[in-house]
Amino acid sequence: FVCYSYTVFLLSGLALLGCCEGWKYFYSEDTMDYDHARKWCTENYTDLVAIQNQEEIEYLNKVIPRMKVYYWIGLRKIDGIWTWVGTKKPLVKEAENWASREPNNQKLGEDCVEIYIKRNTDQGKWNDELCTIKKHALCYQADCNNSSCSGNGVCEEKINNYTCRCHEGFFGPICQYKSACSILHTPANGRMNCTHPFRNFNYNSSCEFDCNKGFIRKGVGTLRCTEFREWSALQPVCQASECNILHAPAYGSMNCFHPFKNFSYNSSCDFDCNKGFIRKGVGTLRCTESGKWSDLLPKCQGRTNFYFFTGKTDHVKVILVTDYVSWLAWERLGILPEELEEVAGEREVWASLLKLLPPRPDLG
Ligand SMILES: *[C@@H]1O[C@H](CO)[C@@H](O)[C@H](O)[C@H]1NC(C)=O
Ligand SMILES: *[C@@H]1O[C@H](CO)[C@@H](O)[C@H](O)[C@H]1NC(C)=O
Ligand SMILES: *[C@@H]1O[C@H](CO)[C@@H](O)[C@H](O)[C@H]1NC(C)=O
Ligand SMILES: *[C@@H]1O[C@H](CO)[C@@H](O)[C@H](O)[C@H]1NC(C)=O
Ligand SMILES: *[C@@H]1O[C@H](CO)[C@@H](O)[C@H](O)[C@H]1NC(C)=O
Ligand SMILES: *[C@@H]1O[C@H](CO)[C@@H](O)[C@H](O)[C@H]1NC(C)=O
Ligand SMILES: *[C@@H]1O[C@H](CO)[C@@H](O)[C@H](O)[C@H]1NC(C)=O
Ligand SMILES: *[C@@H]1O[C@H](CO)[C@@H](O)[C@H](O)[C@H]1NC(C)=O
Repeated sequence: FVCYSYTVFLLSGLALLGCCEGWKYFYSEDTMDYDHARKWCTENYTDLVAIQNQEEIEYLNKVIPRMKVYYWIGLRKIDGIWTWVGTKKPLVKEAENWASREPNNQKLGEDCVEIYIKRNTDQGKWNDELCTIKKHALCYQADCNNSSCSGNGVCEEKINNYTCRCHEGFFGPICQYKSACSILHTPANGRMNCTHPFRNFNYNSSCEFDCNKGFIRKGVGTLRCTEFREWSALQPVCQASECNILHAPAYGSMNCFHPFKNFSYNSSCDFDCNKGFIRKGVGTLRCTESGKWSDLLPKCQGRTNFYFFTGKTDHVKVILVTDYVSWLAWERLGILPEELEEVAGEREVWASLLKLLPPRPDLG
């Protein structure tokens, strides 16, 4: 393997050839098809070379040795378009460097590109070839990696080194410093009021937070952008005030709707009682902004109880004024409502038993 330095952005033809700093080139002694050549490069270095300009071509032609077969480079036909495999960008017209009468797709399917290093004619020029043919891999290794610019900028290869183009909000040689605090946004269900003595969301900016009615602030009320361009605390959130958790009453059911959080501001619950039970209390409760239910939890009460009494009259005796059961008792058994006596049992049960009896024949 060979290790040379190369500079991509040359200043008026000045070439720096110092060793082992900046963009480095490597080639394989073995020959391999295009896919293996790419793999060889990406596994060991960065990728197959992507030619940036004429100086780079001249440089490669100078320092890379002549071989029986030439070298694969990182250019390939993808969906009919010559494309740099590393960046997936198409080859632009001005950057083309084809040998004369190339690309000719002579063998059909000549979709990969080789570079004629030290060939007698067309030195440093490109030729399209079948990807399955075995050639040497010509790789480069970049200085830039994911952490070169602290993850806060775009890394560009430069003379013997790299430079960083920092994303907005960062500065420094490797974008290690923040130039502003992050932009804050009004929290859901709340309000924010910021003052900026210098620039927006920058040093000494401060923001106050309030929550709308029915919501409670979780976190500090005021944030300040510090000299490190970090907020002095995490941004608060507005959480719906919480009411007690409700449960369905005995002999009844509950159906709740929670627009924010479970059993919190504006949650509402509807109550129903099982068959045979009567609701005592309101049908709907709402969780108010103060975190209290709008009313007391309703109850489900059993209906009037009855007792099958076979006393001196030999008849059912139940106390109840005008209702269906007392009417049935009168119709079927001839018991007057005022003779009925309330003791125990369920109205529905008695009603169904009484219904089984035939009406008194002398009725009417
Ligand atoms: C390059 O990678 C190949 C496997 O793809 C491996 O066999 C070879 O040893 C590697 N060479 C270097 C210099 O790491
Ligand atoms: C570098 O970043 C690219 C794109 O963000 C990602 O796909 C790749 O996995 C990263 N590599 C490492 C070694 O973290
Ligand atoms: C990334 O590049 C920097 C400087 O160029 C180097 O110090 C660091 O070790 C590299 N990190 C990786 C994971 O290659
Ligand atoms: C390469 O560039 C980075 C970022 O500009 C800088 O921090 C580093 O010192 C440079 N390395 C060399 C060897 O010049
Ligand atoms: C925002 O805060 C400033 C200073 O604390 C105050 O003067 C101003 O009235 C506030 N504005 C609103 C809309 O609350
Ligand atoms: C920034 O705010 C702090 C605290 O409010 C104050 O003491 C300091 O003087 C301010 N700095 C500038 C440059 O205004
Ligand atoms: C809210 O209630 C639903 C249904 O009872 C339950 O599945 C969910 O876990 C509850 N969420 C929270 C945050 O308690
Ligand atoms: C809460 O409910 C009331 C009454 O239904 C409604 O006027 C109000 O807009 C609701 N509040 C929120 C924040 O949705």
